[in-house]
Amino acid sequence: MKKQWWKEAVVYQIYPRSFKDTNGDGIGDLRGVLEKLDYLKFLGIDVIWLCPIYKSPNDDNGYDISDYRDIMQEFGIMKDFDKLLAEAHKRGIKILLDLVVNHSSDEHNWFVESRKSKDNEYRDYYIWKEGKDGKEPNNWGSVFSGSAWQYDEATDMYYLHLFTKKQPDLNWENPKIRKEVQDLVRWWLDKGIDGFRMDVISAISKQQDFPDGPKKEGALYGDFGPYSINGPRVHEYLKELNKEVLSKYDIMTVGETPGATPEIAMDYVGEERDELNMLFQFEHMSLGDGEDGKWSNGPFKLIELKAILSKWQKGLEKGGWNSLYWNNHDQPRIVSRFGDDKKYWKESAKMLGTCLHMLQGTPYIYQGEEIGMTNVAFENLEDYKDVEIFNAYRELVQLKGKDHDEMMKAIYERGRDNARTPMQWDASENAGFTQGTPWIKLNPNYKEINVESQINDENSILNYYRKLIKIRKENEAMIYGQYDIILEAHEEIYAYTRTLENEKLLVICNFSQNTPEFNLPEDIEFSTKELIISNYEAHEEEDIKEIALRPYECRVYKLIK
Ligand code: NOJ
Repeated sequence: MKKQWWKEAVVYQIYPRSFKDTNGDGIGDLRGVLEKLDYLKFLGIDVIWLCPIYKSPNDDNGYDISDYRDIMQEFGIMKDFDKLLAEAHKRGIKILLDLVVNHSSDEHNWFVESRKSKDNEYRDYYIWKEGKDGKEPNNWGSVFSGSAWQYDEATDMYYLHLFTKKQPDLNWENPKIRKEVQDLVRWWLDKGIDGFRMDVISAISKQQDFPDGPKKEGALYGDFGPYSINGPRVHEYLKELNKEVLSKYDIMTVGETPGATPEIAMDYVGEERDELNMLFQFEHMSLGDGEDGKWSNGPFKLIELKAILSKWQKGLEKGGWNSLYWNNHDQPRIVSRFGDDKKYWKESAKMLGTCLHMLQGTPYIYQGEEIGMTNVAFENLEDYKDVEIFNAYRELVQLKGKDHDEMMKAIYERGRDNARTPMQWDASENAGFTQGTPWIKLNPNYKEINVESQINDENSILNYYRKLIKIRKENEAMIYGQYDIILEAHEEIYAYTRTLENEKLLVICNFSQNTPEFNLPEDIEFSTKELIISNYEAHEEEDIKEIALRPYECRVYKLIK
């Protein structure tokens, strides 16, 4: 397997809005990130991924960009970014930016021009269509509810927006747009950034006849997926971007690709493909999805999670590479979702970290994950801020008659604002996030769960994550070792090995509150063993042929043949 720095790295994702505010406006900023660089160095991460920091009217918190070469006013100015980059580099930390080029903001100058007239020179920067019988051009629904088409009076036509109506889709069929993207990507790389996370990059190519999408019974809209996810020219576009720009820099790229299977993924990240280094898949995040997708969250079995992760581990092991994540700014907090955020909060948070970091791939830590931040449940809908939540509420409760309480429960379990409450730094007012009024309420548990209370506690989740990062640097098998699942049919234990030459890491994770027995498969042979990390005390000499696991217990052994 080819060795690469980005395979060996651990990435820390920052949602700047909720990370650290330094000017008292209640919104996190770039100086806040700068202030916390030493904390990140202490944690031991190698790379920061910053969610969008560009100028934006914030309809979707920065995923609607109005100027790709300017900084969002609330976050600071370009000088702040330059300083941040320089200071990060001084500490040996790299920075990835979020590249959002499936769509821009409707306030981007391109769109302001584009909508003016049919013959405007920017008209074809976006996707404009005539209506059909006085209605939308097709039945596609937007990811954030409602139609994916917005009528525009000025020219009596509709434009496509897979996300909110303030996020018009860029028209990648137009070579001018591709050139614009190349230019802005080059502009940031020349500044010295270390790569990009590419927002919904699998959606940039649309099938040009724009047919109606399949519609589920009772659904208001059709699914655009078959005609605009992994679309006909997506690989051509990425190869072009790679050839013209990306390949000229020593950087890392990760694509966000809803709808990818391992086979599809290999087309994006296969070593010989010259497109991207790795991608974010969604299969494990969709577990529990019901009739209304994530808004009808149901239970799922550990067996299903194991099957999905194993499929990805095996599917990409030859010439591909995985991104490993439990959390990001769109997902609920993992300890609340797959762990137990009450009785076994600490144990389950550590176990989940272990399970993820020991897999093959580049691990991503989302801010607050390293201290076991949990989901939040605001009583009033008005306390939420996410456009996705409001739009889904309108569609499901107001239009389709879903019960309010049921919807609130779904928001508590799967809403994106679970990830967006401010970072909990200490037990002071507003968790040390801001001196002002925070843009979104805090999780009231910040007095108990915060960085300050964990930093000097050897047993804390925070110091456990530090250790996970440290052992990655000391154990090559953790990075390059071959993954093999064991006890595949076990309903409570997720166990696997990572083998590199004569060394084997044995990873044992109990995903339940119960005390199942772990039985070592007979074909795993070794002459010496060393316990390299565990979330309970365990005796080094203990026989590991049979282990009575404690609730959410995890252990990793290094076995030498
Ligand atoms: C995926 C991003 O992660 C999400 O936050 C955003 O709303 C959509 N793409 C649209 O840009």
